[in-house]
Amino acid sequence: MNQQPLSGIKVIDFTGVQAGPACTQMLAWFGADVLKVERTTGGDVTRHQLRDIPDVDALYFTMLNSNKRSLAINTKTPEGKEVMEKLICDADVLVENFAPGAMDRMGLSWEHIHELNPRLIFGSVKGFNEDSPWADLKVYENVAQCAGGAASTTGFWDGPPTVSAAALGDSNTGMHLLIGILTALMAREKTGVGQKVSVSMQDAVLNLCRVKLRDQERLERLGYLEEYPQYPNGTFTDTVPRGGNAGGGGQPGWVLKCKGWETDPNAYIYFTIQEQNWERTCEAIERPEWVHDPAYCTVEARQSHIFDIFDEIEKWLADKTKYEAVDTLRKYEVPCAPVLSMKEIAYDPALRTSGSVVEVEHKERGSYLTVGCPVKFSDFAPQITGSPLLGEHTDQVLTELGYDADTIAALHAEGVV
Ligand code: COA
Repeated sequence: MNQQPLSGIKVIDFTGVQAGPACTQMLAWFGADVLKVERTTGGDVTRHQLRDIPDVDALYFTMLNSNKRSLAINTKTPEGKEVMEKLICDADVLVENFAPGAMDRMGLSWEHIHELNPRLIFGSVKGFNEDSPWADLKVYENVAQCAGGAASTTGFWDGPPTVSAAALGDSNTGMHLLIGILTALMAREKTGVGQKVSVSMQDAVLNLCRVKLRDQERLERLGYLEEYPQYPNGTFTDTVPRGGNAGGGGQPGWVLKCKGWETDPNAYIYFTIQEQNWERTCEAIERPEWVHDPAYCTVEARQSHIFDIFDEIEKWLADKTKYEAVDTLRKYEVPCAPVLSMKEIAYDPALRTSGSVVEVEHKERGSYLTVGCPVKFSDFAPQITGSPLLGEHTDQVLTELGYDADTIAALHAEGVV
């Protein structure tokens, strides 16, 4: 393996659950020395949530905390706070995602941290921005999806707002914070000074919902949205409706049934009618007469009976598995993919080869599957290792900070670590 890009960067990972840990885990994959600072009483809550093996760290924890070290310490004691301050003086980055005000209550405000170490970059996740009327709220994934515009625009028009299975509020916010921290590290090269980088989960969700804000503006101007199933036969109100499985751009698409859908909940493909590929699409689905038929040959003509067209395509799909269908359609350059189940993803050999799904060893659990690094570099391959046990590196870290064996023993005896 080549030199790790972030080697030498010291990160204090004062995070929990998913948003913060997702950010710091990727810093660790890129080579930073990431020290997870956890409560002595159980550590990060995800160590205990939804355990599949008694007394062994849950997969929720192991999948978000690989390549890190763990220091278990009560930072609310004077001795614990002193350790934190020593760590801060020596670190490049501190990341936290506690409830609003928790860092201040611990005596670790941004102002104090900046004074202790002006070079340190302070990354912070909250549910909402500081000036939001909801700034005081504690926030989890689905709360953010609802506040960021994802839920009101996801699902079907005759059903309630729906949240996505993708962690738009959690891991997505962590990735936004990662971008901010790396940018602040580059800025520090020029200025020599660190800064506070804040990301709200509401903003991170909204950033992925930008086309829905586009649609709101179009709706207010036009009164309709031509690519939505509600057009032209349904009705629009003054706000963006839920569009089911419609495509978000100018290319209509839908999830279509394939052979076996009656018993297999994932026997479907996503089928896109790409405007510039209409002729070959007709060829692919064996409807050559549609190519020049005025009722079919333009986007506008198709939209009024788009679901009849999808019904016809489903008839063509009826004797094909999702894989057979995609194998045919790819020859005609139809943008499409099978709907893959998590089981298919877990055992997909291509995802294993690319390192997108990896098997990792854990000291107590044995081997487990986790999502690997989604960013591929030409000169560096992240090596993913297991997550640390609670407090596994406490003594090592205290020694690095200059504490002698007697003092470390005393800190243990007093319950500080
Ligand atoms: N030693 C001593 N105390 C510690 C500690 C340590 N090592 N680590 C944390 N604590 C304390 C905090 O200071 C806080 O104390 P306080 O409430 O007296 O100020 C307490 O533990 C609980 O902190 P926290 O985990 O933030 O609270 P919570 O479990 O009630 O709330 C969240 C959890 C996720 C809802 C909340 O942290 C939050 O809204 N975070 C911001 C948004 C976010 O990241 N959400 C999660 C996305 S995955």
